[in-house]
Amino acid sequence: MSDLEKAAEYITGAKNILFLSGAGISAESGIPTFRGEEGLYKNRRAEYLATPQAFTRDPEFVWGWYNFRKDLVSSKEPNAAHRATTELKELIPAMLVVTQNVDGFHREAGVEDLVEMHGNIFRARCTECPYESELRSTESDMPRCEKCEGLLRPAVVWFGESLDAGVLNRIFEMIQKADLMLVVGTSGIVYPAAGFSVEVRRSGGRIIEINPDKPHSMGKDDIHLQGSAAQIMPELVEEVKKRL
Ligand code: OAD
Repeated sequence: MSDLEKAAEYITGAKNILFLSGAGISAESGIPTFRGEEGLYKNRRAEYLATPQAFTRDPEFVWGWYNFRKDLVSSKEPNAAHRATTELKELIPAMLVVTQNVDGFHREAGVEDLVEMHGNIFRARCTECPYESELRSTESDMPRCEKCEGLLRPAVVWFGESLDAGVLNRIFEMIQKADLMLVVGTSGIVYPAAGFSVEVRRSGGRIIEINPDKPHSMGKDDIHLQGSAAQIMPELVEEVKKRL
């Protein structure tokens, strides 16, 4: 039995599945990953840009990065991996789809019950009052709150900031009961997402990882499907459909 067929058996035999995606799932849509060779913006890495300190120091520069990414995402679309994820969710409604990505592509591809653990690049919130709303425009590198004129910031999680407690609770509830986790297109170095697979293994679950890179930490029952998500995810869903 091939690893792909074995992975499909894991999926059809699982009761509770946690699905986690990272920037790699959007790579084939033309969105550079953070730690690939195109991951820099004006020679700055995400670890420098996606921080409260960078925003305080130079909000216009940080908004420039987010507006650049918003324009890029707006010009691209979800790929076959996002669509396969939606199909898998339809086949297995118990699967919880969590993404570290802020591009909204899973939702655009049809996943309604989506956990965007790092927020969404097309939403902004005020640094002075509780106002938050959608902000698709990229005209201003210093957008202002329509309620109090305060400076807006991207409604995304930055390094050093804590995630929404409700989001974390939902993820950890699934981790406790997950007998399987699919990890697609993430380097697995940014916490807390990087720790989810360890927690799932600790509670007896198995991991299927899809990534062109060599496997990260693997347990004896884990499966690493080496390659592009846009190629592997649709193949995996076809194998699952044969077994349902
Ligand atoms: P990274 O850029 O760190 O990792 C992308 C992963 O996708 C790597 O492991 C690549 O090997 C893999 N990859 C590349 N092309 C792929 C493809 N076609 N199919 C599948 N996998 C592919 O991005 P993330 O792991 O998502 O957070 O980064 C995690 C967080 O760090 C982001 O959410 C963001 C970033 O800084 C914040 O900004 C807070």
